[in-house]
Amino acid sequence: MKRKHLISIEELETHEIKETLETAKSFLEISKRPIKKVPTLRGKTVVNLFFEPSTRTMSSFEIAAKRLSADVMNFSSASSSVRKGETLKDTVLNLEAMNTDLLVIRHSASGAAKFLTTFCKSSVVNAGDGTHEHPTQALLDALTVLERKGRLNGMKVVIVGDILHSRVARSDTFLFTKMGSKVVLSGPSSLLPSYFSSLPVKVEYNLDKAVEGADVIIMLRLQLERMVGGFFPTLREYRERYRLTPWRLRATKPDAIVMHPGPINRGIELSSDVADSGRSVILEQVEKGVAVRMAVLSLLLGGAR
Ligand code: CP
Repeated sequence: MKRKHLISIEELETHEIKETLETAKSFLEISKRPIKKVPTLRGKTVVNLFFEPSTRTMSSFEIAAKRLSADVMNFSSASSSVRKGETLKDTVLNLEAMNTDLLVIRHSASGAAKFLTTFCKSSVVNAGDGTHEHPTQALLDALTVLERKGRLNGMKVVIVGDILHSRVARSDTFLFTKMGSKVVLSGPSSLLPSYFSSLPVKVEYNLDKAVEGADVIIMLRLQLERMVGGFFPTLREYRERYRLTPWRLRATKPDAIVMHPGPINRGIELSSDVADSGRSVILEQVEKGVAVRMAVLSLLLGGAR
């Protein structure tokens, strides 16, 4: 991979996606060793800049960088001078003045990661920007599917729920369509943005029909923190129409897998008996996330495999 930054799946060529996944596969084994460390990024400094909460992504980038022997600094906006009014640009320039090599950024503003590339000397990785993209989530979703199904093409991938506010839905849609799978979006019309009509996806409002013959179902959390006003009549009605239950799973392929980027709202988009079932690969996604982030860090920083 020749690029310096990873901002979106939309900008990636299919050969770059394949190379990243191949590299990630080679890193899977390192996390199973008694000593989980290789010297690939020794001497490099990675900064995790998180302006929004995160459990999986931040810890996964930290673990990935440490397993590659990089030095890691986790920046939390809540305990920083951002609270005193320092701007994003000044914050980043000051951190870069400490000679960083790569910045991982999560921010509520769509375009924040791209903005950093206009003035940063360091590589920039988008760890989720507003409702725009979450590229490493899509890559780890793809690695999970690849490991389970042995391929990324010719499948029916159904993405369900709050598509409107989901950067994961956008990144997954770009990735799975680029790799030759069919993507079906399902959710209330108020949570399905009109720009998806310009993408090669099918929209099916009825979840029971959407999941028919599915190979992969990606459930999404209702992002209530991003909602202003009512997007559906009641939570109870949403649950009735869009919660994935064992009954609904009967219409999928027998070996269909259930995914979720987390955090799960148990009982709302996913019943616990599905979340904890053999069909669920949710924790496998988290495991693959470390390998994918090791691959992204090492490819962008030019480290050897
Ligand atoms: N999937 C994901 O982005 O989870 P976190 O918000 O916990 O990082």
